[in-house]
Amino acid sequence: MNCSDNLVNEIRRLKRERNAVILAHNYQIGEVQDIADFVGDSLRLSQQAASTDADVIIFCGVHFMAETAAILSPKKTVLLPDIYAGCPMADMVTAEKLREFKAEHPGTPVVCYVNSSADVKAESDYCCTSANAVKIVESIGADKVIFVPDQHLGHYASTKTSKSVVLWNGFCPTHRRITAKSVKEQKAAYPEARVVVHPECTTEVIALADAVASTEGILRYAHESNDGEFIIGTELGILHRLQKENPGKRFYAAAERAICPNMKRTTLEKVLWSLQDMENAITVPEDIAARAKRAIDRMLEIV
Ligand code: 13P
Ligand code: SF4
Repeated sequence: MNCSDNLVNEIRRLKRERNAVILAHNYQIGEVQDIADFVGDSLRLSQQAASTDADVIIFCGVHFMAETAAILSPKKTVLLPDIYAGCPMADMVTAEKLREFKAEHPGTPVVCYVNSSADVKAESDYCCTSANAVKIVESIGADKVIFVPDQHLGHYASTKTSKSVVLWNGFCPTHRRITAKSVKEQKAAYPEARVVVHPECTTEVIALADAVASTEGILRYAHESNDGEFIIGTELGILHRLQKENPGKRFYAAAERAICPNMKRTTLEKVLWSLQDMENAITVPEDIAARAKRAIDRMLEIV
């Protein structure tokens, strides 16, 4: 038995002892995904967090995801294995700046991407994820909506709905590393491959894609497609599940540099330390949580 087997066995033992569940995002490193009880996109992880009967949730992802879990499951202990795992895009909007923006667009409903703080969600009318942004924006009974913080997802939603979308200028630095040039180079190298990208990519990259989907949607597309080769335009952690679940198919990164340093902060050791020490609990003040939950619940009712 090697060191990594010992780690995995100890995590499993402590997980039972604590009645804990391990949730991991599709961008986590492979060995963290493999130890998780559930791996998925932001939407499915929030649904899991809302429905689990565990006492403890070990959230292998970034801060806003653990916060969302804490809002949906206030009686559970939600632990983030690396307290510094944040999301630079989520940090591009604050509640104060959003209040000022709302004042400039009175009466316009606000949709916030789940990649945002609890404070920002509390200022918003609807939450959405990349899997349901189009559906949520379309469902709103107004011609104009404010969308924060991701300008690319917001713009993508505006092209797929009848709504006029007022964009915030946030973006994901990792998805910005996927450029039209890198996609064109990969298309030239693998002419038979389908191009599947995440809606956090720029408009130029989206224009080159055969399909646009959340990480779970990308996995579904690859699984259901009759094609055998795919150029994948999102964070590279997703290649782990793509390859594991589709051994006969080939996957190429649209850009080798599309690695989110925050998603890579979680390691097996940190998961074990979380279970041992029960530190890094993520909590949200009750009043903020109640207002943020309204926006999240509205989303969960629509999807
Ligand atoms: P999804 O897995 O929901 O598509 O999210 C992508 C993302 O950037 C999470 O940080
Ligand atoms: Fe944030 Fe982008 Fe990293 Fe997702 S991939 S956590 S949006 S920085």
